[in-house]
Amino acid sequence: MCGIVGYIGKSDTTEFLLQGLYRLEYRGYDSAGLCFVRDDGLLERRRSVGRISNLETLVRRQPVPSRIGIGHTRWATHGAATESNAHPHYGGHPEFGGLSDLALVHNGVIENYQDLKQELMEDGYSFQSQTDTEVVAQLLHRTIFQMRQAGELNDQSPIDFATALRDVLARLRGTYGLVVMFHGKPDFLLAARCGSPLVIGVGQGEQFIASDPAPLYGKTDKIITLVDHQIAIITSRSIQVIQRDTGTVQPSIQVLTQGQDSHSCEGYEHYMHKEIYQQPEAIRNAIRGRLDRDDATAKLGGLNLTVPQLRNIERLVLTGCGTSWHSALIGEYMIEQISRMPVEVEYASELRYRNPPVDKQTLVFGITQSGETADTLAALREMQRKGHPTLAICNNIGSSIAREADGGIYLHAGPEIGVASTKAFTSQVVVLALLALYFGRMRHLSFEDGLRWIDELEALADQVQVALQTEEQIKQIAYEFQDATNVLYLGRNYLFPTALEGALKLKEISYIHAEGYPAAEMKHGPIALVDQHTPSVFLISKGLVYDKIMSNLQEVKARGGPVIAVTDRVDSQLEKLADRIILVPSVAEPLQPVVSVVPLQLLAYHIALLRGCDVDKPRNLAKSVTVE
Ligand code: AGP
Repeated sequence: MCGIVGYIGKSDTTEFLLQGLYRLEYRGYDSAGLCFVRDDGLLERRRSVGRISNLETLVRRQPVPSRIGIGHTRWATHGAATESNAHPHYGGHPEFGGLSDLALVHNGVIENYQDLKQELMEDGYSFQSQTDTEVVAQLLHRTIFQMRQAGELNDQSPIDFATALRDVLARLRGTYGLVVMFHGKPDFLLAARCGSPLVIGVGQGEQFIASDPAPLYGKTDKIITLVDHQIAIITSRSIQVIQRDTGTVQPSIQVLTQGQDSHSCEGYEHYMHKEIYQQPEAIRNAIRGRLDRDDATAKLGGLNLTVPQLRNIERLVLTGCGTSWHSALIGEYMIEQISRMPVEVEYASELRYRNPPVDKQTLVFGITQSGETADTLAALREMQRKGHPTLAICNNIGSSIAREADGGIYLHAGPEIGVASTKAFTSQVVVLALLALYFGRMRHLSFEDGLRWIDELEALADQVQVALQTEEQIKQIAYEFQDATNVLYLGRNYLFPTALEGALKLKEISYIHAEGYPAAEMKHGPIALVDQHTPSVFLISKGLVYDKIMSNLQEVKARGGPVIAVTDRVDSQLEKLADRIILVPSVAEPLQPVVSVVPLQLLAYHIALLRGCDVDKPRNLAKSVTVE
C-alpha cells in the first residue's frame, strides 16, 4: 500500500517529508520520492528505488530548501519498481510549457488509465513511466492548459486549479488519494480522495498531509479526514474542503488519540515482536466493557441494529482476506457452535464477484485490521447494494470500511505496524467470541453457559501470557528448522484455521513455503509430500478429535516426517511420537486458537530472523492491500 506525505508552512519541508515517509514504511513499498517547489518557483524532485534511506542520502547530498513539498512511498502496481516509475510524477508538455508544470503523488488504482493515456498521446503528450499516476498528472496539465486557453483560469486563484482537478477526477474510474502542487505556486497544495485515505494535520501556520495519522504524531493533534469525492485547497493558514456534489463544506476536526508510542518499537527489535507481546493487553482491550454478567451476555454497542432487527437475523456472512479470513473461519465454527446460527465464510475477493443468493435475514460482517483492504471494502459495498446490513470488525478507527459499514465492533488492539498480522488476529477471534456469546444468549445459550463463556474470556489474556513463555524453546526449534524448504501445518476443528494462520505467518516473513491443512485430509494427497526434510507442525488439543489427530500424527511419523506438536496436553504416546513438543495452556476449545497461535507466530518470527529476512516489511507485501 503506497504512502503519501505533504507539507506547506513555515519550516523547511524536508524533515517532515522524510520522517513522515519513515513512519509510513510499515505499509510496504519498493521505491520512494520527494518533490519541492523551490523558492524560485521551479519544481525539483528526488526519487530512488529501495529503502527510504536511499532517498534520504540523495536529499542530504543535494538538499532543496523549500517550505512546500510532497513525498511518496510506492508499492508497485502498474510498472516495475524503478526510479522512473517512482512518484512524484510530473505533468507538462514541451509545447505548452515546461515538462514539470505540476507534480503529483497518488495512492490507489486508476482502472481506465490506458484509454486516457492513449487520448493524451494523440494530443502530443509523452510519458516517462508505466504508471497510471503519470496519466492523471498529464490529464491535469492538459485540463489546466485548456482552461487557460479558454480564459477560464486565473493563475492567482487556487480555486480554479481545484476546478481543473475536479474535472480531471470526473474522468477517472478507480480509486485515489492524491496530492498535487504547481510550478511557481508555492502558496497552496491540492489534495483529493476517493477510496484511498488521506488525512490533513492542522498546524499553526503550517499544514501536514498523510495517508494515515502515523506521520502526524508530535506535529499536531488535530486532523481532518477527507472523505470520498472531496478536494482540499491547502495553504499554510487555511484548509478549504470542497465536496464534489455540494461545494465547499465545513470539515470536522478530530483529535488524534493514539499516543506517540503506537509507532515506536518500545525496546523490541521489531514491531512484530512487540505486537506478539501486546496480545494479552490487546485481548483485555477487546473485552473491556463488553462483558455483561447481569445478563450473561456481551455488550456490543456499535452494531447500530435494534434487538428486534438482530433477532430477525437467520444467517451471517463473514468476509475478509488473508489472516482476517482465517479468523472468520474460526468465527464460523464458534458462532455456529455457541449460537446455532448458520454462518458462511467468503473470501472478500470472491464474494464481490460471485453474486451468491443471499436471503434478506442475512447479516454481513467484514473482518479487517486496516479497514482499507480493497477487496473487503468492495465486497461490503456489493452486499450493501443488495440491501444487506453490513458490519465491520475492524482495528483502524476512521478507516474507509469502519466509516462505510452500517456499524461494527472495533478491536481496540492499537496500531498494528508489522506487516504480518498477530495481535489483530487474536483480537478478531476474541471479538467473534463476543459475537457468538451475544447471538447465543439471544437464542439457545443458557444463563450459566453464558457466564462460563464470560469466565473463559476474562481468563484468556493470562493464558496467552503463559503461551508467550514458550519463546526460548521456540528459538531452539527455529534454529533446527530454519533451512526447511516446505513445512506442513496440520490441525482439526478450531485448530484447522489456526494451522492456516501459522502457515501464512511462516510464508510471509521467512519466505519458506508452508501449507495449512485439515489433518484428516493429509491421507487424501498431501501426505505424499512427507519425507525427512518436511517438518509437520501438528496443532493438538484435548478436545473432541484428540484421538483422531494422534492417528494423523502417526501417519506422518510412519513416513519419516519430523513432527513439532503444539499441544495443551502431553501423554506418553505423544512423547514417543513427536520430535518437539510445545506445551500451551488448555482453554475452551473455541478459544484454543488464540493460545495455540502464539508459538506459531514466534516460530515464524525467529525463523525469519535466522534467515535474515525483513520481519516487519517482508518483500512484495504491504500492510494493507488497498488495490485489487
Ligand atoms: C496477514 O499477516 C497479512 N498481512 C494479510 O493477509 C492481511 O491479513 C490481509 O491483507 C487482510 O488485511 P486486513 O485485515 O487489514 O483487511
